Amino acid sequence: MIGTGYVGLVSGVCFADLGNDVVCVDKDISKIKLLEKGKVPIYEPGLSELVIKNYKNKRLTFSSNLKKSIKESDIIFICVGTPTKKGGSSADLTQIYNVAKEISISINKFKIIVTKSTVPVATGDEIEKILLKKNSKKKFSVVSNPEFLREGEALRDFIYPDRIVVGSNDKRSNRILKSLYNPLISKGASYIHTTRRSAELIKYASNSFLATKITFINEIANLCEKTGVNIEDISIGIGLDKRIGSRFLRAGPAYGGSCFPKDTKAIVSTADKFKTNLSVIKSVIKSNENRSNLLLNRVYEILNKKIKKKIITFLGVTFKANTDDMRDSSSMKMIPALSKKGAIIKYFDPTGSKKEFEKIKNVSYENSIKKSIMGADLVIIHTEWNDFKSINFKNLNKGKKFIIYDMRNIYTPSKIKIQGFKYFSIGR
Ligand code: UDX
Repeated sequence: MIGTGYVGLVSGVCFADLGNDVVCVDKDISKIKLLEKGKVPIYEPGLSELVIKNYKNKRLTFSSNLKKSIKESDIIFICVGTPTKKGGSSADLTQIYNVAKEISISINKFKIIVTKSTVPVATGDEIEKILLKKNSKKKFSVVSNPEFLREGEALRDFIYPDRIVVGSNDKRSNRILKSLYNPLISKGASYIHTTRRSAELIKYASNSFLATKITFINEIANLCEKTGVNIEDISIGIGLDKRIGSRFLRAGPAYGGSCFPKDTKAIVSTADKFKTNLSVIKSVIKSNENRSNLLLNRVYEILNKKIKKKIITFLGVTFKANTDDMRDSSSMKMIPALSKKGAIIKYFDPTGSKKEFEKIKNVSYENSIKKSIMGADLVIIHTEWNDFKSINFKNLNKGKKFIIYDMRNIYTPSKIKIQGFKYFSIGR
């Protein structure tokens, strides 16, 4: 597994747990040293226990020696980052191509090279070209095997996937990958063999569709607020249609994370390159980017446009629950904007204080819910951590009554209102 980030480490550990010999490689030696001590640099429930178990039984090893690891492996998974290009919208494939060059000079027997990183359509062809410069085409096969792991549920999503997608242009590599995944297939996972390019596109189309579904329900929630309708009735009412499905219909703040924002932009830029206009996904990107401003305007209304010196508490700042990931979290837009308007922001998050807010004026981390809401004028529920689901606000609220703005609809409005709080939420 080349790259021990979120995808490489989770997939590597799970492959080891299925009985394979796995080496996770990273050029960051300090990371490798930490991993060898069982210290996992990412917050993923259950991951460190699995790392320690498989490291102890020697199925899992760590290395910073890429050449040696490649020579000793039969299947090589490329799991390096493909972030959005700075100032652009396409995927930055520098790390992918650097790894491909390394592999091309280390092929000592037949290898299967698998891109698990999310890569634009036809990247596999480019990797193939790099390898062909130094190797005959009989010495390797380049395969696409995208991951569908959600942060916070990654282990479950690997072990119980809805489907395994393998894109290759030859039977041999498909046979080998199918046997690698056999333990999951025999437990009911669907296995799809397709061409390499279609596997690459399935990943982008999948994430873009999920982002579209969320943006759709978020915009319907806006209409609900104007028409006095409860968005949860809509989610249930449409979700029971099997063609729509009830998951991913929870209205909330703008979606974030390391995937939806990156992948929607990347597929649009790929389409532009191929002279195709993905107008729906373009509007999803625009709608989501505007959503934080929409919710900020709601905050200004709730506080009667008097923001200066107001104390606003954020309960949760990560992009969703069960992760410490701040990438593209909507709090990254809302907190600086409120601070600029003169508000005093306090925040609590179960995963601790965030470096992202260290340089922002009047923003402070409190290490308990109680301390974070002390003296607040407005308490915003930004992330749907379980820790917030049964707070007894009445007991916690000693001084002036604060207002609650529940951006994740985790409370029942009537229950909060009978405690005497002014309560706002999304689409209700
Ligand atoms: C996503 C895809 O789900 C996963 O399959 C892919 O491999 C990587 O990207 P992830 O980004 O970890 O996973 O998080 P996800 O659970 O999909 O949530 C993404 C964003 O959508 C979050 O900001 C979340 O809060 C938001 N969301 C999700 C909603 O607002 N409502 C929902 O109903 C679901």
